[in-house]
Amino acid sequence: MKIFLDSANLTEIKEAMSWGAIDGVTTNPTLVAKEGKEFFPLLKEICEVVNGPVSMETVSRDAAGMVEEGRSFAKLHPHIVVKCPLTKEGLKATRQLAGEKIRVNVTLCFSAPQALLAAKAGAYFVSPFVGRLDDISSDGMALIRDIKTIYANYPFSTQILVASVRHPLHVVEAAKAGADIATMPFAVLESLVKHPLTDAGLERFLKDWEKLPAEAKAWKNVPSR
Ligand code: E4P
Repeated sequence: MKIFLDSANLTEIKEAMSWGAIDGVTTNPTLVAKEGKEFFPLLKEICEVVNGPVSMETVSRDAAGMVEEGRSFAKLHPHIVVKCPLTKEGLKATRQLAGEKIRVNVTLCFSAPQALLAAKAGAYFVSPFVGRLDDISSDGMALIRDIKTIYANYPFSTQILVASVRHPLHVVEAAKAGADIATMPFAVLESLVKHPLTDAGLERFLKDWEKLPAEAKAWKNVPSR
């Protein structure tokens, strides 16, 4: 499963890239607005830093507006994937943009029939929001399993991008369900690295190493081949 960072923050994106941890980035209007920066230069810089798809969301309500925005995004950088919402207008825009070979991430997906329609419209990614479903006492991960089953029955090429990921178990469950990608905030990505036994084990190894006399561990004594 690929891992994307759900962020428009360049510091976070560069840090996650330096771990070799992420294959792409997703953004949305909320995340971009949080940065308080000029929008197009920020988006372009994210695309230059990330060696993979970068999703950016259209903000029009009608298909014509989404298509126009999508074309402008696509001109900005080859990494761009245009996000369109899972509405009738969003599906129209997806069909049009996909026909122009512009990749579309159909976002705000909350049901299996919606995901079926996204695939039929030619979506490159579909983004089911698991966390927001869990928030209203629905089973977000059950939706991922349903979409996986439905897509496997037909020759769709749409990739399942699990979104609204809130904690490490969402990531594990998404991978077990066979999702193509999970996108997550930086805090969740960081929590995937951490384990108390790793920290305790490292502490003990380093303490034991200190017990060795200085001359026995001098790096200059490394024998050459
Ligand atoms: C994905 O593309 C969305 O930007 C994101 O996952 C939404 O997450 P949230 O529900 O935590 O805002």
